[in-house]
Amino acid sequence: MTNILFVASEAHPLIKTGGLGDVAGSLPVALQSSHTDVRLLLPAYHDAVARAGRLKTVTTLTVPGLDAPVRILEGRLPGTSLITWLVDFPPAYDRPGNPYLDALGQPWPDNAMRFMLLAHVAVTLALGRTRLKWRPDVVHCHDWQTGLVPVLLAPEKNRPATVFTIHNLAYQGLFPYKTFTALGLPASLWSPGALEFHDQLSFIKGGIAFADRLTTVSPTYAHEIQTPEFGSGLEGLLHQRAERLTGILNGINGEEWDPACDPFIAKPYSAHRLQDKLPNKLALQKKFGLPGEPQTSLIGMVGRLVQQKGIDLVLETLPGLMHRPLQLVILGTGEAGYEAALRAQVARYPGRLAVHIGYDERLAHLIEAGADMFLMPSRFEPCGLNQLYSLRYGTIPIVRHVGGLADTVVDATEENLKAGKATGVVLAEARAVALLTAVDRALVLRQNTRRWNQMMRTGMRHDFTWHHSAAEYLRLYKQTVQANRQHQDNEPNRKDAHVPGKRGKRSGPKH
Ligand code: ADP
Ligand code: GLC
Repeated sequence: MTNILFVASEAHPLIKTGGLGDVAGSLPVALQSSHTDVRLLLPAYHDAVARAGRLKTVTTLTVPGLDAPVRILEGRLPGTSLITWLVDFPPAYDRPGNPYLDALGQPWPDNAMRFMLLAHVAVTLALGRTRLKWRPDVVHCHDWQTGLVPVLLAPEKNRPATVFTIHNLAYQGLFPYKTFTALGLPASLWSPGALEFHDQLSFIKGGIAFADRLTTVSPTYAHEIQTPEFGSGLEGLLHQRAERLTGILNGINGEEWDPACDPFIAKPYSAHRLQDKLPNKLALQKKFGLPGEPQTSLIGMVGRLVQQKGIDLVLETLPGLMHRPLQLVILGTGEAGYEAALRAQVARYPGRLAVHIGYDERLAHLIEAGADMFLMPSRFEPCGLNQLYSLRYGTIPIVRHVGGLADTVVDATEENLKAGKATGVVLAEARAVALLTAVDRALVLRQNTRRWNQMMRTGMRHDFTWHHSAAEYLRLYKQTVQANRQHQDNEPNRKDAHVPGKRGKRSGPKH
């Protein structure tokens, strides 16, 4: 039996701001088996507790620097049998809304403390220093919020193996030096070889430098982040650790995202009943107050309104797009400037452009089902889940050739169309003209119903569920556990384990 502790800062359906929530709410479920015992650890945010159903306190622990105890609440991830532990410390987590940002969209001022606490609790559980009779063989951490877990575990004897997954390198958890001292981290960690990043404390660097194995969420992004264009300043370190880095494509929750039985859409449909997609289009047009026109191409977009997603390109291209025979619906929240700019444009294009600023899970499903095409002109995209949902829903994705988008969407070139492989339209550059050209290609393609339906079916038949990727993670865990055991057996002395790459070697440089 392999025990895995999955540590994340969000997991659907308890709390979600983006794709990390989808992954942390579905990968551990897919990993469960008679050979694998997975537990999910999350902060007990106000909203997560409200959605969690029955919870019981299973243990209480003390954490350095905190005068009150921390409780671990146990429940099941709703709709699954996955044991989920919530870290209950109300001063840190009992606040409604976004887990990372306040009502004005600013990071909570105590974020460093909040996620240091999550790390401390993960480490205490990982080392079996609680009343719980369960210890993991692997601790699998996700993104900067969990970056300190591998750091704190590194010097410990008989520790579990650590895996750190990068979902988005652009979010690094950077804090000033005074936060580093306030957190009480060992002074040796303030070095460019450890947590220091251009005079700041970097949580994500901790995960990258100290975890036994690194993964990211697509093979292409695994290469991209080793280059200055996508590496956000960490490309050198990532390149140095390239042997430990694997790109494993995200999967989707095939039960929640299934057009044949999605409770949030107007009519179920499948690759065998494509005609039943139309009532969803009409429902979507109605929902957004657009004229119900079956022939007009309807393009959907769902996502965080930030530069990553190319929303600036869409705004720049809008006059050109609105010259074409199409309708565009956008659902998103994000930077106030983009929200305001989108709102301002709606009045200029009545009946053509509709925007819903907000977070709405149901509407996201209806857009995936009702749109003919899904737009994702991202500047970078570690994996992207929306294009996977689009493929499953027979909604042709129009995507940029980056990261996971490049790994999952097959461009409708003449050759790919003939071979029956094409599933979408790919644009090479993040430029307005490239975006317009791609949309034009999609509009022309749609006029050929036979080819269009073939593309829809090809995408719908591809298996994007966790099946393959969960098996890859299991292989990686196995290798990592073995390597960790050998490593620990050969290492009586782990005093200077805080020197990444030189763990336990007395000759390692001192920082
Ligand atoms: P990212 O994690 O970078 O935001 P992904 O494509 O991996 O991008 O995942 C985004 C997830 O969040 C998808 O499940 C998408 O449907 C959801 N999502 C994003 N914005 C919204 C929104 N405004 N309303 C509903 N769901 C949203
Ligand atoms: C990040 C990325 C996105 C990815 C998601 C889940 O938020 O931006 O591309 O799909 O994490 O891994």
